[in-house]
Amino acid sequence: MAPTARKNAATPHYTVPGLKPDTAAEVITVLQDRLNALNDLALTLKHVHWNVVGPTFIAVHTMLDPQVDGVREMVDTTAERIATLGGSPVGTPGALVAQRSWDDYSIGRADANAHLAALDLVYSGVIEDHRAAIEKTEELDPVTEDLLVTQTGGLEQYHWFVRAHLERPDGTLVTANAPTEKAAARKAKR
Ligand SMILES: [Fe+2]
Repeated sequence: MAPTARKNAATPHYTVPGLKPDTAAEVITVLQDRLNALNDLALTLKHVHWNVVGPTFIAVHTMLDPQVDGVREMVDTTAERIATLGGSPVGTPGALVAQRSWDDYSIGRADANAHLAALDLVYSGVIEDHRAAIEKTEELDPVTEDLLVTQTGGLEQYHWFVRAHLERPDGTLVTANAPTEKAAARKAKR
């Protein structure tokens, strides 16, 4: 997921005590991008939950619902942090698509390995961008930074659940250096 040039959030009329409204606007811009990513991730995980097929269907199908629940919780926390800072969280699908800097998930009905390989790339993108958001908020607002750090720990654990399926006994990943979801899915075919 590449960073994108995007209009900054409007400066709020009020914000949390001790923070300047201009600074809050910068934090809100960072958080809106993370809100879009988490909303997108929750929908994508459900899409995989519905489209996975093959002999290991049930393992992947049932693994994903707790991840959906966890990510939806992160969505709520992120949106409410925007509101707490005096901003207006945007949660509509049209705005998400218009603002995002990444493409829709590219795989439909497919076997478990293909979806897990593609999800490896999805999680990598979200986590890289979350880490960049942590860096941006470190000086601006440590309270928001703390929220993002907690979320990143959860996302990294979910990513490990996915990657454990793709790991060889020597510790390498079958998806290593795959440039796209479809390329990763091809590499994971056994
Ligand atoms: Fe279900």
